Amino acid sequence: MPSLPKLASNFKFWEDRTISLAPSPSNFSSDDEPVLEIWGQHPLSGFVPVSGAKNSALVILAGAILCPDDCRIRNVPYLADVERMVQILIALGVKVRRNKDALEINAAHVEHSKAPYELVSQLRASFFAIGPILARLGVARIPLPGGCAIGARPVDLHVRGLQAMGADIQIDHGMVNATTRRGRRLQGAKIYLDYPSVGATETLMMAATLAEGETVLENAAQEPEVVDLANFCRAMGAKIRGAGSNTIVISGVPSLHSTDYSIIPDRIEAGTFLVAGAITRSEIVVGPVVPDHLTPLIAKLQAIGVQIVPDGPNRLRVLPRAEVYSATDVETLPYPGFPTDMQAQLMALLTLCEGDSVVSETVFENRLRHVAELNRMGADIRVKGNNALVRGVPFLSGAPVLATDLRASAALVLAGLAARGKTSISGLHHLDRGYEKLEQKLSQLGAKLQRVYPDGRVVEARRPVVSES
Ligand code: UD1
Repeated sequence: MPSLPKLASNFKFWEDRTISLAPSPSNFSSDDEPVLEIWGQHPLSGFVPVSGAKNSALVILAGAILCPDDCRIRNVPYLADVERMVQILIALGVKVRRNKDALEINAAHVEHSKAPYELVSQLRASFFAIGPILARLGVARIPLPGGCAIGARPVDLHVRGLQAMGADIQIDHGMVNATTRRGRRLQGAKIYLDYPSVGATETLMMAATLAEGETVLENAAQEPEVVDLANFCRAMGAKIRGAGSNTIVISGVPSLHSTDYSIIPDRIEAGTFLVAGAITRSEIVVGPVVPDHLTPLIAKLQAIGVQIVPDGPNRLRVLPRAEVYSATDVETLPYPGFPTDMQAQLMALLTLCEGDSVVSETVFENRLRHVAELNRMGADIRVKGNNALVRGVPFLSGAPVLATDLRASAALVLAGLAARGKTSISGLHHLDRGYEKLEQKLSQLGAKLQRVYPDGRVVEARRPVVSES
Protein backbone atom coordinates (compact mmCIF):
# COMPACT_ATOMS: atom_id res chain seq x y z
CA MET A 1 0.00 0.00 0.00
CA PRO A 2 1.52 3.36 -0.93
CA SER A 3 1.84 5.63 2.07
CA LEU A 4 0.14 8.96 1.60
CA PRO A 5 1.07 12.01 3.59
CA LYS A 6 -1.59 12.71 6.22
CA LEU A 7 -3.70 15.70 5.32
CA ALA A 8 -2.17 18.78 6.89
CA SER A 9 -3.98 20.52 9.72
CA ASN A 10 -4.41 23.59 7.52
CA PHE A 11 -6.03 21.36 4.90
CA LYS A 12 -8.28 23.64 2.85
CA PHE A 13 -11.30 21.88 1.50
CA TRP A 14 -13.20 22.98 -1.51
CA GLU A 15 -16.24 24.79 -0.37
CA ASP A 16 -19.33 25.51 -2.38
CA ARG A 17 -18.54 29.18 -2.78
CA THR A 18 -15.04 28.53 -4.16
CA ILE A 19 -16.28 26.39 -7.01
CA SER A 20 -17.31 28.19 -10.15
CA LEU A 21 -19.70 25.82 -11.82
CA ALA A 22 -20.50 26.30 -15.45
CA PRO A 23 -24.19 27.11 -15.70
CA SER A 24 -26.53 24.16 -15.99
CA PRO A 25 -30.02 24.16 -17.46
CA SER A 26 -31.57 24.74 -14.04
CA ASN A 27 -29.32 27.51 -12.71
CA PHE A 28 -28.61 29.39 -15.83
CA SER A 29 -30.29 32.19 -17.68
CA SER A 30 -29.59 32.33 -21.40
CA ASP A 31 -29.02 36.09 -21.00
CA ASP A 32 -25.75 35.39 -19.13
CA GLU A 33 -24.28 32.85 -21.45
CA PRO A 34 -21.37 33.47 -23.79
CA VAL A 35 -21.30 32.39 -27.41
CA LEU A 36 -18.37 30.58 -29.01
CA GLU A 37 -17.43 32.19 -32.31
CA ILE A 38 -15.36 30.09 -34.70
CA TRP A 39 -13.90 31.22 -38.03
CA GLY A 40 -13.63 28.05 -40.08
CA GLN A 41 -11.22 26.67 -42.64
CA HIS A 42 -8.02 27.54 -40.78
CA PRO A 43 -5.61 24.62 -41.05
CA LEU A 44 -4.47 23.01 -37.78
CA SER A 45 -1.01 21.70 -36.99
CA GLY A 46 1.06 20.48 -34.07
CA PHE A 47 0.41 18.50 -30.90
CA VAL A 48 -2.71 18.59 -28.75
CA PRO A 49 -2.74 17.28 -25.16
CA VAL A 50 -5.52 14.99 -23.95
CA SER A 51 -6.86 15.36 -20.40
CA GLY A 52 -7.87 12.64 -17.95
CA ALA A 53 -11.07 10.75 -18.72
CA LYS A 54 -14.17 12.57 -17.46
CA ASN A 55 -16.20 9.39 -17.07
CA SER A 56 -13.41 7.68 -15.13
CA ALA A 57 -12.94 10.70 -12.90
CA LEU A 58 -16.64 10.90 -12.02
CA VAL A 59 -17.03 7.28 -11.02
CA ILE A 60 -13.64 7.02 -9.31
CA LEU A 61 -14.62 10.01 -7.17
CA ALA A 62 -17.73 8.08 -6.18
CA GLY A 63 -15.54 5.01 -5.59
CA ALA A 64 -13.35 6.95 -3.15
CA ILE A 65 -16.34 6.81 -0.75
CA LEU A 66 -15.51 3.12 -0.29
CA CYS A 67 -12.30 3.98 1.56
CA PRO A 68 -12.12 5.68 4.99
CA ASP A 69 -8.44 6.65 4.50
CA ASP A 70 -6.89 9.42 2.40
CA CYS A 71 -6.85 8.77 -1.36
CA ARG A 72 -5.16 10.77 -4.06
CA ILE A 73 -6.55 10.70 -7.61
CA ARG A 74 -4.35 12.19 -10.31
CA ASN A 75 -4.97 13.37 -13.86
CA VAL A 76 -8.41 14.68 -12.91
CA PRO A 77 -9.66 17.17 -15.53
CA TYR A 78 -11.01 20.61 -14.57
CA LEU A 79 -14.60 20.26 -15.75
CA ALA A 80 -18.00 21.46 -14.59
CA ASP A 81 -19.15 17.83 -14.16
CA VAL A 82 -16.15 16.98 -11.98
CA GLU A 83 -16.76 20.07 -9.88
CA ARG A 84 -20.40 19.07 -9.44
CA MET A 85 -19.30 15.63 -8.29
CA VAL A 86 -16.91 17.24 -5.81
CA GLN A 87 -19.75 19.39 -4.48
CA ILE A 88 -21.86 16.27 -3.98
CA LEU A 89 -19.02 14.55 -2.10
CA ILE A 90 -18.62 17.63 0.09
CA ALA A 91 -22.37 17.65 0.77
CA LEU A 92 -22.01 14.01 1.83
CA GLY A 93 -19.35 15.01 4.38
CA VAL A 94 -16.30 13.96 2.37
CA LYS A 95 -13.23 16.22 2.47
CA VAL A 96 -11.79 17.10 -0.93
CA ARG A 97 -8.82 19.24 -1.87
CA ARG A 98 -7.46 19.99 -5.31
CA ASN A 99 -3.71 20.05 -5.79
CA LYS A 100 -3.04 20.81 -9.49
CA ASP A 101 -4.37 17.83 -11.45
CA ALA A 102 -4.82 15.72 -8.30
CA LEU A 103 -7.77 15.47 -5.94
CA GLU A 104 -7.01 14.48 -2.37
CA ILE A 105 -9.99 12.87 -0.75
CA ASN A 106 -10.78 11.83 2.78
CA ALA A 107 -14.05 9.94 3.20
CA ALA A 108 -13.54 8.99 6.86
CA HIS A 109 -16.93 10.55 7.55
CA VAL A 110 -19.82 10.01 5.11
CA GLU A 111 -23.47 10.99 5.55
CA HIS A 112 -25.84 8.55 3.88
CA SER A 113 -28.57 10.99 2.86
CA LYS A 114 -27.12 14.39 2.04
CA ALA A 115 -26.78 14.26 -1.76
CA PRO A 116 -28.70 17.36 -2.91
CA TYR A 117 -31.34 16.82 -5.60
CA GLU A 118 -30.33 19.97 -7.54
CA LEU A 119 -26.84 18.53 -8.09
CA VAL A 120 -27.79 14.88 -8.60
CA SER A 121 -30.37 15.93 -11.20
CA GLN A 122 -27.63 17.76 -13.12
CA LEU A 123 -25.16 14.89 -12.96
CA ARG A 124 -26.47 11.39 -13.54
CA ALA A 125 -23.13 9.79 -12.59
CA SER A 126 -23.57 11.03 -9.02
CA PHE A 127 -26.36 8.47 -8.59
CA PHE A 128 -23.68 5.78 -8.95
CA ALA A 129 -22.52 6.79 -5.42
CA ILE A 130 -25.45 4.75 -4.10
CA GLY A 131 -23.30 1.60 -4.45
CA PRO A 132 -20.32 2.74 -2.34
CA ILE A 133 -22.47 4.55 0.26
CA LEU A 134 -24.68 1.50 0.77
CA ALA A 135 -21.69 -0.83 0.92
CA ARG A 136 -19.88 1.38 3.49
CA LEU A 137 -22.80 2.42 5.70
CA GLY A 138 -25.54 -0.17 5.12
CA VAL A 139 -27.90 2.67 4.24
CA ALA A 140 -28.10 5.19 1.37
CA ARG A 141 -30.62 7.79 0.32
CA ILE A 142 -30.05 9.33 -3.10
CA PRO A 143 -32.44 11.31 -5.31
CA LEU A 144 -33.40 9.71 -8.62
CA PRO A 145 -31.37 11.47 -11.31
CA GLY A 146 -34.31 12.03 -13.66
CA GLY A 147 -34.11 12.60 -17.41
CA CYS A 148 -31.42 14.41 -19.30
CA ALA A 149 -30.76 15.92 -22.71
CA ILE A 150 -30.26 12.53 -24.36
CA GLY A 151 -33.25 10.63 -23.02
CA ALA A 152 -35.02 9.15 -20.00
CA ARG A 153 -32.06 7.07 -18.75
CA PRO A 154 -33.64 4.87 -16.05
CA VAL A 155 -31.70 3.28 -13.14
CA ASP A 156 -33.64 0.03 -12.91
CA LEU A 157 -30.55 -2.13 -13.55
CA HIS A 158 -28.70 -0.47 -10.67
CA VAL A 159 -31.67 -0.98 -8.36
CA ARG A 160 -32.34 -4.60 -9.33
CA GLY A 161 -28.67 -5.50 -8.93
CA LEU A 162 -28.49 -4.00 -5.44
CA GLN A 163 -31.69 -5.85 -4.51
CA ALA A 164 -30.09 -9.10 -5.69
CA MET A 165 -27.27 -8.32 -3.23
CA GLY A 166 -29.76 -8.19 -0.37
CA ALA A 167 -30.65 -4.49 -0.28
CA ASP A 168 -34.16 -3.35 0.59
CA ILE A 169 -34.99 -0.52 -1.79
CA GLN A 170 -37.98 1.81 -1.64
CA ILE A 171 -38.49 4.58 -4.15
CA ASP A 172 -40.50 7.31 -2.55
CA HIS A 173 -41.15 10.91 -3.64
CA GLY A 174 -38.25 10.79 -6.10
CA MET A 175 -35.82 9.38 -3.51
CA VAL A 176 -34.17 5.98 -3.60
CA ASN A 177 -33.94 4.66 -0.02
CA ALA A 178 -31.68 1.63 0.25
CA THR A 179 -30.76 -0.39 3.34
CA THR A 180 -29.02 -3.67 3.90
CA ARG A 181 -31.11 -6.27 5.70
CA ARG A 182 -30.78 -6.20 9.50
CA GLY A 183 -27.72 -4.00 9.27
CA ARG A 184 -25.69 -6.77 7.63
CA ARG A 185 -23.21 -6.23 4.80
CA LEU A 186 -24.42 -6.58 1.25
CA GLN A 187 -24.30 -10.21 0.09
CA GLY A 188 -22.43 -11.48 -2.94
CA ALA A 189 -24.77 -12.56 -5.74
CA LYS A 190 -24.84 -13.72 -9.34
CA ILE A 191 -26.29 -10.85 -11.37
CA TYR A 192 -27.11 -10.89 -15.06
CA LEU A 193 -27.53 -7.41 -16.52
CA ASP A 194 -30.25 -7.26 -19.18
CA TYR A 195 -28.09 -4.65 -20.91
CA PRO A 196 -24.35 -3.98 -20.42
CA SER A 197 -24.98 -0.62 -18.74
CA VAL A 198 -21.78 1.22 -17.87
CA GLY A 199 -23.26 2.89 -14.79
CA ALA A 200 -24.99 -0.25 -13.46
CA THR A 201 -21.80 -2.29 -13.89
CA GLU A 202 -19.88 0.40 -11.98
CA THR A 203 -22.47 0.78 -9.19
CA LEU A 204 -22.64 -2.96 -8.61
CA MET A 205 -18.89 -3.52 -8.88
CA MET A 206 -18.25 -0.83 -6.26
CA ALA A 207 -20.97 -2.21 -3.98
CA ALA A 208 -19.60 -5.75 -4.32
CA THR A 209 -16.07 -4.80 -3.23
CA LEU A 210 -17.28 -4.59 0.41
CA ALA A 211 -19.98 -7.29 0.21
CA GLU A 212 -19.86 -10.64 1.98
CA GLY A 213 -18.86 -13.35 -0.48
CA GLU A 214 -18.48 -13.42 -4.23
CA THR A 215 -20.43 -11.37 -6.79
CA VAL A 216 -20.50 -12.33 -10.45
CA LEU A 217 -21.66 -9.66 -12.91
CA GLU A 218 -22.67 -11.21 -16.21
CA ASN A 219 -23.24 -9.24 -19.42
CA ALA A 220 -21.20 -6.50 -17.75
CA ALA A 221 -20.07 -3.35 -19.57
CA GLN A 222 -16.52 -3.62 -20.96
CA GLU A 223 -15.73 0.09 -21.36
CA PRO A 224 -12.19 1.24 -20.50
CA GLU A 225 -13.65 3.43 -17.73
CA VAL A 226 -15.07 0.29 -16.06
CA VAL A 227 -11.57 -1.20 -16.17
CA ASP A 228 -10.13 2.04 -14.77
CA LEU A 229 -12.58 1.93 -11.86
CA ALA A 230 -11.74 -1.73 -11.24
CA ASN A 231 -8.02 -0.88 -11.20
CA PHE A 232 -8.65 1.96 -8.76
CA CYS A 233 -10.64 -0.35 -6.46
CA ARG A 234 -7.92 -3.00 -6.73
CA ALA A 235 -5.33 -0.39 -5.81
CA MET A 236 -7.41 0.09 -2.60
CA GLY A 237 -7.28 -3.67 -1.93
CA ALA A 238 -10.47 -4.85 -3.66
CA LYS A 239 -10.47 -8.30 -5.24
CA ILE A 240 -11.79 -7.96 -8.78
CA ARG A 241 -11.09 -10.03 -11.86
CA GLY A 242 -12.43 -10.03 -15.38
CA ALA A 243 -12.96 -6.24 -15.72
CA GLY A 244 -12.86 -5.48 -19.44
CA SER A 245 -14.62 -8.76 -20.26
CA ASN A 246 -18.36 -9.40 -20.04
CA THR A 247 -18.03 -11.32 -16.75
CA ILE A 248 -16.61 -9.57 -13.71
CA VAL A 249 -16.02 -11.48 -10.48
CA ILE A 250 -15.66 -9.56 -7.22
CA SER A 251 -14.71 -11.22 -3.93
CA GLY A 252 -15.82 -8.93 -1.14
CA VAL A 253 -13.32 -7.76 1.49
CA PRO A 254 -14.13 -6.17 4.88
CA SER A 255 -12.45 -2.83 4.12
CA LEU A 256 -10.35 -0.93 1.60
CA HIS A 257 -7.25 1.18 2.13
CA SER A 258 -5.54 4.35 0.96
CA THR A 259 -4.18 4.66 -2.56
CA ASP A 260 -2.61 7.04 -5.04
CA TYR A 261 -4.07 6.49 -8.50
CA SER A 262 -3.84 8.15 -11.91
CA ILE A 263 -6.77 7.93 -14.30
CA ILE A 264 -6.59 7.05 -17.99
CA PRO A 265 -6.62 9.60 -20.84
CA ASP A 266 -10.04 10.59 -22.16
CA ARG A 267 -10.71 8.50 -25.28
CA ILE A 268 -13.68 10.67 -26.27
CA GLU A 269 -11.71 13.91 -26.06
CA ALA A 270 -8.88 12.23 -28.00
CA GLY A 271 -11.37 10.99 -30.60
CA THR A 272 -12.82 14.49 -30.94
CA PHE A 273 -9.33 15.81 -31.76
CA LEU A 274 -8.73 13.01 -34.28
CA VAL A 275 -11.92 14.13 -36.04
CA ALA A 276 -10.77 17.78 -35.77
CA GLY A 277 -7.66 16.85 -37.74
CA ALA A 278 -9.71 14.90 -40.28
CA ILE A 279 -12.43 17.50 -40.81
CA THR A 280 -9.92 20.35 -41.30
CA ARG A 281 -7.65 18.10 -43.39
CA SER A 282 -4.80 18.83 -41.02
CA GLU A 283 -1.92 16.66 -39.87
CA ILE A 284 -1.99 16.84 -36.07
CA VAL A 285 -0.68 14.67 -33.22
CA VAL A 286 -2.94 13.70 -30.31
CA GLY A 287 -1.74 12.31 -26.99
CA PRO A 288 -1.54 10.77 -24.53
CA VAL A 289 -3.95 8.10 -25.69
CA VAL A 290 -4.40 4.37 -25.24
CA PRO A 291 -4.65 3.51 -28.96
CA ASP A 292 -6.66 0.33 -28.28
CA HIS A 293 -9.43 2.44 -26.71
CA LEU A 294 -9.89 4.19 -30.07
CA THR A 295 -10.01 1.14 -32.35
CA PRO A 296 -13.67 1.52 -33.47
CA LEU A 297 -13.20 5.21 -34.31
CA ILE A 298 -9.88 4.62 -36.09
CA ALA A 299 -11.54 1.92 -38.22
CA LYS A 300 -14.26 4.37 -39.29
CA LEU A 301 -11.77 7.16 -40.01
CA GLN A 302 -9.76 4.77 -42.16
CA ALA A 303 -12.90 3.74 -44.06
CA ILE A 304 -13.51 7.44 -44.74
CA GLY A 305 -9.95 7.93 -46.04
CA VAL A 306 -8.10 9.32 -43.02
CA GLN A 307 -5.00 7.44 -41.90
CA ILE A 308 -4.30 7.31 -38.17
CA VAL A 309 -0.77 6.17 -37.39
CA PRO A 310 1.20 5.76 -34.15
CA ASP A 311 3.56 8.59 -33.26
CA GLY A 312 5.37 6.96 -30.35
CA PRO A 313 3.75 4.58 -27.86
CA ASN A 314 0.92 6.82 -26.64
CA ARG A 315 0.31 9.32 -29.43
CA LEU A 316 -1.57 9.17 -32.69
CA ARG A 317 -0.95 11.20 -35.83
CA VAL A 318 -3.80 12.11 -38.17
CA LEU A 319 -2.91 11.87 -41.87
CA PRO A 320 -5.83 13.17 -43.92
CA ARG A 321 -4.57 11.48 -47.10
CA ALA A 322 -7.57 10.89 -49.37
CA GLU A 323 -8.42 13.60 -51.88
CA VAL A 324 -12.11 12.84 -51.44
CA TYR A 325 -13.52 11.36 -48.24
CA SER A 326 -15.91 8.40 -48.65
CA ALA A 327 -19.23 7.91 -46.86
CA THR A 328 -19.48 5.07 -44.34
CA ASP A 329 -22.24 3.63 -42.13
CA VAL A 330 -21.91 3.56 -38.36
CA GLU A 331 -23.93 2.02 -35.54
CA THR A 332 -23.34 2.92 -31.91
CA LEU A 333 -22.93 -0.02 -29.55
CA PRO A 334 -21.56 -0.84 -26.11
CA TYR A 335 -17.74 -1.15 -26.05
CA PRO A 336 -15.89 -2.46 -28.02
CA GLY A 337 -18.49 -1.21 -30.51
CA PHE A 338 -18.51 2.34 -31.81
CA PRO A 339 -19.08 4.73 -28.85
CA THR A 340 -22.31 6.69 -28.69
CA ASP A 341 -20.21 9.52 -27.20
CA MET A 342 -18.45 9.89 -30.62
CA GLN A 343 -21.56 9.61 -32.80
CA ALA A 344 -22.27 13.33 -33.15
CA GLN A 345 -18.63 14.22 -33.85
CA LEU A 346 -18.27 11.54 -36.53
CA MET A 347 -21.54 12.70 -38.07
CA ALA A 348 -20.08 16.20 -38.45
CA LEU A 349 -17.30 14.64 -40.56
CA LEU A 350 -19.71 12.45 -42.53
CA THR A 351 -21.56 15.57 -43.71
CA LEU A 352 -18.46 16.29 -45.86
CA CYS A 353 -17.91 12.74 -47.16
CA GLU A 354 -18.96 11.89 -50.70
CA GLY A 355 -22.00 9.62 -50.82
CA ASP A 356 -24.64 8.50 -48.30
CA SER A 357 -23.87 7.40 -44.75
CA VAL A 358 -26.37 5.85 -42.33
CA VAL A 359 -25.80 6.61 -38.66
CA SER A 360 -27.76 4.38 -36.26
CA GLU A 361 -27.96 5.38 -32.59
CA THR A 362 -28.81 2.25 -30.59
CA VAL A 363 -27.64 3.22 -27.09
CA PHE A 364 -29.73 6.31 -26.30
CA GLU A 365 -33.21 7.23 -27.43
CA ASN A 366 -32.81 10.95 -28.08
CA ARG A 367 -29.32 11.52 -29.33
CA LEU A 368 -29.76 13.00 -32.80
CA ARG A 369 -30.72 16.55 -31.85
CA HIS A 370 -27.52 17.93 -33.42
CA VAL A 371 -28.91 17.00 -36.84
CA ALA A 372 -31.11 20.08 -37.07
CA GLU A 373 -28.16 22.29 -36.12
CA LEU A 374 -25.79 20.65 -38.64
CA ASN A 375 -28.47 21.14 -41.29
CA ARG A 376 -28.51 24.87 -40.43
CA MET A 377 -24.88 24.84 -41.53
CA GLY A 378 -25.73 23.36 -44.91
CA ALA A 379 -25.54 19.63 -44.10
CA ASP A 380 -28.07 17.29 -45.70
CA ILE A 381 -29.26 14.89 -43.01
CA ARG A 382 -32.64 13.22 -42.60
CA VAL A 383 -33.72 11.42 -39.45
CA LYS A 384 -36.08 8.49 -39.15
CA GLY A 385 -36.40 7.09 -35.64
CA ASN A 386 -32.89 6.51 -34.33
CA ASN A 387 -31.31 6.49 -37.81
CA ALA A 388 -29.90 9.42 -39.72
CA LEU A 389 -29.22 9.42 -43.45
CA VAL A 390 -26.28 11.76 -44.09
CA ARG A 391 -25.87 12.85 -47.72
CA GLY A 392 -22.42 14.34 -48.22
CA VAL A 393 -22.25 18.01 -49.26
CA PRO A 394 -19.23 19.83 -50.74
CA PHE A 395 -18.98 22.37 -47.91
CA LEU A 396 -20.58 23.64 -44.70
CA SER A 397 -21.39 27.30 -44.05
CA GLY A 398 -20.95 29.06 -40.72
CA ALA A 399 -24.24 29.86 -38.94
CA PRO A 400 -25.63 30.57 -35.47
CA VAL A 401 -26.32 27.17 -33.88
CA LEU A 402 -27.42 25.81 -30.50
CA ALA A 403 -25.60 23.05 -28.62
CA THR A 404 -28.20 20.56 -27.36
CA ASP A 405 -25.99 18.22 -25.31
CA LEU A 406 -22.33 17.66 -24.52
CA ARG A 407 -21.24 15.67 -27.56
CA ALA A 408 -23.58 17.61 -29.86
CA SER A 409 -21.71 20.75 -28.83
CA ALA A 410 -18.40 19.11 -29.79
CA ALA A 411 -19.87 18.18 -33.17
CA LEU A 412 -20.83 21.80 -33.78
CA VAL A 413 -17.32 22.97 -32.87
CA LEU A 414 -15.91 20.47 -35.39
CA ALA A 415 -18.37 21.58 -38.06
CA GLY A 416 -17.46 25.20 -37.31
CA LEU A 417 -13.75 24.47 -37.76
CA ALA A 418 -14.47 23.14 -41.26
CA ALA A 419 -17.21 25.60 -42.33
CA ARG A 420 -16.84 28.64 -44.53
CA GLY A 421 -17.18 31.84 -42.49
CA LYS A 422 -18.26 32.32 -38.88
CA THR A 423 -20.16 29.86 -36.69
CA SER A 424 -21.62 31.10 -33.38
CA ILE A 425 -22.41 28.33 -30.91
CA SER A 426 -24.70 28.98 -27.95
CA GLY A 427 -25.62 26.53 -25.18
CA LEU A 428 -21.98 26.35 -24.09
CA HIS A 429 -22.80 24.99 -20.62
CA HIS A 430 -23.00 21.61 -22.33
CA LEU A 431 -19.49 21.96 -23.78
CA ASP A 432 -18.04 23.02 -20.43
CA ARG A 433 -19.32 19.85 -18.80
CA GLY A 434 -16.87 17.67 -20.63
CA TYR A 435 -14.02 19.38 -22.52
CA GLU A 436 -11.15 20.85 -20.52
CA LYS A 437 -9.70 24.05 -22.04
CA LEU A 438 -11.06 23.11 -25.45
CA GLU A 439 -10.67 26.59 -26.89
CA GLN A 440 -7.07 26.95 -25.71
CA LYS A 441 -6.20 23.53 -27.07
CA LEU A 442 -7.74 24.23 -30.47
CA SER A 443 -6.22 27.69 -30.56
CA GLN A 444 -2.80 26.18 -29.88
CA LEU A 445 -3.36 24.05 -33.00
CA GLY A 446 -4.12 27.18 -35.05
CA ALA A 447 -7.91 27.44 -34.89
CA LYS A 448 -9.48 30.91 -34.78
CA LEU A 449 -12.10 31.09 -32.07
CA GLN A 450 -13.24 33.23 -29.15
CA ARG A 451 -15.91 33.37 -26.46
CA VAL A 452 -18.08 36.47 -26.53
CA TYR A 453 -20.17 37.40 -23.47
CA PRO A 454 -23.51 39.25 -23.71
CA ASP A 455 -21.88 42.36 -22.18
CA GLY A 456 -19.44 42.40 -25.13
CA ARG A 457 -16.51 40.95 -23.19
CA VAL A 458 -14.37 38.79 -25.46
CA VAL A 459 -12.17 35.94 -24.26
CA GLU A 460 -9.74 34.97 -26.96
CA ALA A 461 -8.21 31.54 -26.65
CA ARG A 462 -4.57 32.36 -27.20
CA ARG A 463 -2.53 31.02 -24.34
CA PRO A 464 -0.69 27.78 -25.04
CA VAL A 465 -1.79 25.15 -22.55
CA VAL A 466 0.87 22.48 -22.61
CA SER A 467 4.11 22.21 -24.47
CA GLU A 468 4.98 19.08 -26.36
CA SER A 469 7.89 18.15 -24.12
C1 UD1 B 1 -22.17 6.17 -19.43
C2 UD1 B 1 -21.36 7.39 -19.76
C3 UD1 B 1 -21.91 8.10 -20.98
C4 UD1 B 1 -22.02 7.11 -22.15
C5 UD1 B 1 -22.78 5.88 -21.73
C6 UD1 B 1 -22.80 4.80 -22.79
C7 UD1 B 1 -20.61 8.07 -17.57
C8 UD1 B 1 -20.65 9.08 -16.50
N1 UD1 B 1 -21.41 8.28 -18.62
O1 UD1 B 1 -23.48 6.62 -19.10
O2 UD1 B 1 -21.03 9.16 -21.32
O3 UD1 B 1 -22.70 7.73 -23.21
O4 UD1 B 1 -22.18 5.29 -20.55
O5 UD1 B 1 -21.51 4.48 -23.18
O6 UD1 B 1 -19.84 7.13 -17.51
N2 UD1 B 1 -30.21 1.93 -18.98
C9 UD1 B 1 -31.37 1.36 -18.50
N3 UD1 B 1 -31.44 1.07 -17.18
C10 UD1 B 1 -30.41 1.30 -16.32
C11 UD1 B 1 -29.23 1.86 -16.83
C12 UD1 B 1 -29.16 2.16 -18.16
O7 UD1 B 1 -32.32 1.14 -19.26
O8 UD1 B 1 -30.53 1.01 -15.12
C13 UD1 B 1 -30.13 2.29 -20.42
C14 UD1 B 1 -29.94 3.78 -20.66
O9 UD1 B 1 -31.16 4.48 -20.61
C15 UD1 B 1 -29.29 3.80 -22.01
C16 UD1 B 1 -28.44 2.53 -22.01
O10 UD1 B 1 -28.97 1.71 -20.96
O11 UD1 B 1 -30.25 3.72 -23.01
C17 UD1 B 1 -26.97 2.78 -21.76
O12 UD1 B 1 -26.80 3.45 -20.53
P1 UD1 B 1 -25.53 3.27 -19.61
O13 UD1 B 1 -24.55 2.36 -20.25
O14 UD1 B 1 -26.00 2.94 -18.23
O15 UD1 B 1 -24.95 4.74 -19.63
P2 UD1 B 1 -24.49 5.61 -18.38
O16 UD1 B 1 -23.74 4.78 -17.41
O17 UD1 B 1 -25.61 6.43 -17.88
